[in-house]
Amino acid sequence: MGFWADYQDKIASGALKPDEAQGAIARKLDHLAEALKDYAPKPAGFFARLTGAKNGPAPKGLYIQGEVGRGKTMLMDLFCAHADIEPKRRAHFHAFMQDIHARLHAARRGAKDPLLTVANAVAAEARLLCLDEMQIADIADAMIVGRLFDILFQRGSVVVTTSNLKPGDLYKDGLNRQLFLPFIKLMEEKLDVVTLDSPTDYRLGRVRGRETFIHPLGPDADRKLQELWVKLTDTETGAATALDVLGRKLPVPQAAHGAARFTFADLCEAPLGPPDYLALAQNFRTLFIEHIPVLTPRHRNPSKRFILLIDTLYDAHVRLVASAEAVPEALYSEGHHAQEFLRTVSRLQEMQSASWWGAKIVET
Ligand SMILES: Nc1ncnc2c1ncn2[C@@H]1O[C@H](COP(=O)(O)OP(=O)(O)OP(=O)(O)O)[C@@H](O)[C@H]1O
Ligand SMILES: [Mg+2]
Repeated sequence: MGFWADYQDKIASGALKPDEAQGAIARKLDHLAEALKDYAPKPAGFFARLTGAKNGPAPKGLYIQGEVGRGKTMLMDLFCAHADIEPKRRAHFHAFMQDIHARLHAARRGAKDPLLTVANAVAAEARLLCLDEMQIADIADAMIVGRLFDILFQRGSVVVTTSNLKPGDLYKDGLNRQLFLPFIKLMEEKLDVVTLDSPTDYRLGRVRGRETFIHPLGPDADRKLQELWVKLTDTETGAATALDVLGRKLPVPQAAHGAARFTFADLCEAPLGPPDYLALAQNFRTLFIEHIPVLTPRHRNPSKRFILLIDTLYDAHVRLVASAEAVPEALYSEGHHAQEFLRTVSRLQEMQSASWWGAKIVET
């Protein structure tokens, strides 16, 4: 069965909801799947001359950009499973780059040009390379991807990749970014850059009608919050990461697909301040805050930070999932900030509303 037929089958069976934006990209992937059937990538120089192998130019791969939960990975995986070309490799971009660095490390012992050696080997192992979640987080990756992918394309590898960012927004504000610009140009030249512009965040649809401010605390609350986490991220546990805040690292215990997860203690008992909260609001669409206690005069600084945190999240329209000892209006009744906390209560209430989470949520 062809890619398009399989995609249509999944819609007919109800496994996938019809989605015009996904359909448009599925058409492109279908064309690519067809082109790959007739494509034999270039053998290495000597061998090519020996066999007189003829081959057309490599078909253009795809760079699928779009917001979280739109179905980029779903489409890429469906395509990768289907593509009639061997060998093929599917990897998370981050894992792919870790593998590259490990091989570079090994190749440095012998090879004159380690990157060329590694890139040649990778190209030989993958005529089709499907890379999920392209993002360039550090300078070590930024400085090698240009040449690495240039060699992969020269060797005839076809790349399909997904990303939340357009090529031009990768490694934004990164150190020595001018040295990274050739990679952006390469992506734009060698790949068909398409946006998956679906109005539906399929993960978000799963939380519709559910409580997002869970109380009181206890195993039941923990379980409910964990359920929401899984629905919103498709993972049991996110990956630990860190944000750069004014030259410091702000540790994020768990992050996945635009969501981050903390405890109240992580965010409000540690000495964090406005730049930290702003960085969180700018980097995540959804924030999970677990174990918010009833705030007493003992919690003077944590209370102040909590008020600031909620204000910051509110201003950036971040979605909040929280577990707390009590409902918002019972969280803070006496102390210095009681008056100010009325605003926090009102915001916490609004942040639970369907309209805050997105009026156009499709039930999925
Ligand atoms: N048309 C659809 N009908 C039903 N479920 C869908 C549809 N498209 C995607 N999904 C499901 O929605 C979830 C999110 O899709 P997917 O992981 O592909 O999103 P994404 O665009 O890769 O998001 P991210 O940028 O966060 O990686 C997945 O569980 C996927 O199976
Ligand atoms: Mg994805």
